[in-house]
Amino acid sequence: MMKFLPIFLNTRNQACLVIGGGATANRKVELLLRAQAKVIVVAPKLTESLNQLLHDGHITHRANLFVPTDLQNCRLVIAATNDKAVNKEISVMAQAQGILVNVVDQPELCTFIMPSIIDRSPIEIAVSTGGASPVLARLLRARLESLIPANYGKLAEFVASFRDQVKQRLPFNERRLFWENVLQGSIAEMLLAGHTEAATEALKNLINETSASDQKFGEVYLVGGGPGDPDLLTFRALRLMQQADVVLYDRLVSPGILNLVRREAERIYVGKAPTNHPVPQDEINQLLIRLAKEGKRVLRLKGGDPFLFGRGGEEIETLMEEGITFQIVPGITAATGSSAYAGIPLTHRDYAQSCLFVTGHLKDDSINLNWEALAQPHQTVVIYMGLRGLPVICRELIQQGMPVSTPAALIQKATTAKQRVLVGTLETLPGTVESADINLSSIIIIGDVVKLHEKLAWFTP
Ligand SMILES: C[S@@+](CC[C@H](N)C(=O)[O-])C[C@H]1O[C@@H](n2cnc3c(N)ncnc32)[C@H](O)[C@@H]1O
Repeated sequence: MMKFLPIFLNTRNQACLVIGGGATANRKVELLLRAQAKVIVVAPKLTESLNQLLHDGHITHRANLFVPTDLQNCRLVIAATNDKAVNKEISVMAQAQGILVNVVDQPELCTFIMPSIIDRSPIEIAVSTGGASPVLARLLRARLESLIPANYGKLAEFVASFRDQVKQRLPFNERRLFWENVLQGSIAEMLLAGHTEAATEALKNLINETSASDQKFGEVYLVGGGPGDPDLLTFRALRLMQQADVVLYDRLVSPGILNLVRREAERIYVGKAPTNHPVPQDEINQLLIRLAKEGKRVLRLKGGDPFLFGRGGEEIETLMEEGITFQIVPGITAATGSSAYAGIPLTHRDYAQSCLFVTGHLKDDSINLNWEALAQPHQTVVIYMGLRGLPVICRELIQQGMPVSTPAALIQKATTAKQRVLVGTLETLPGTVESADINLSSIIIIGDVVKLHEKLAWFTP
């Protein structure tokens, strides 16, 4: 049996009474105001923010202790005084007069309870544990908050503005399918990504074609999967991962992250082939175009951030040339992931006021970098793809005048169970790394900030 009947109450312009002027009453008042109620607060004294609401004309105040006549003409009452006897008295009187009553933290005195709310107005989701555990309700709410995009309300308003048109155009049995396709397809995505005009145009076209499918609008999601720990994905990344028809992923995407992609999605690996040659970039670009033109929602999932040493820009350029819609979702890049999980801040008032991200990729056994710029004091240098070139990097920096004792660290597979942090100096790190048998993707951090690792390291894989 349900303990309560969930209903949504229309409180617009309705007189709602809050008895009590403290912090709890304050929260209830704010909620009632969000629901457009006419709020009357009964309390000898008010909190500062209630006083502000009074001053701004949002509430009415009766500066007295509760008296029975306060209940006259009100729709609902919330008792939030710190006197249990008074709260009980209010509850008994309100119930006798058929007024809805809530007594804070005393469910036995309530005729209604206040749920935890996920507000995506006009969409509202209420979570209640029937008073069993408000904390559990709040935790559930936090989960739901993370699953439901912040601008879902906008989506609901968008749909509402087209409902009549669709009603006129399509018979009842086709309408459901039509809206399902729109809400799970590229039109909804365009809107959520802020392309209101494009979404409106696309929906108008779809309505005029009276086709119950928007399949022809394939699109590409270029998503940064972060450095490895699935918990570091963004909400948007996760949502798009769960609605993709096909995913193109490469070597850096961890199995834990790939597991979160919609189970039915086709998986295409475009990292290193068995011959150990990466799939050429142009082939990936062409594949993205072909799949999107087939009407698919194509997830291009990359490690870290797609725009940092990720060739995301090149992929998007070709999509633009072909007129294919896309979204880009940033991810936590290896530099910030490693920095956080190794306890090495990239800047620090005492040690470094700037930070450089560079690639240490070897070409013909040499690295083409501006060594002079890298060897400046009070800065941190983060080197991606620098594992093989580490001895060259350290040698060049020393030649540019950096002290041999400059702290340096190598972080392998940051944020994952395989994370390893090796710390040394420009002089010692290459040898330490060689004897440690490091062979997975690793990043190098050079600069005085590395000293902080000893103190700030917190993550134990
Ligand atoms: C082609 S780059 C891609 C970078 C990626 N787009 C990003 O934003 O992190 C690959 C390099 O990123 C670094 N990298 C990526 N993930 C890493 C991790 N979990 N730990 C350490 N380094 C990582 C390594 O230096 C690796 O060689």
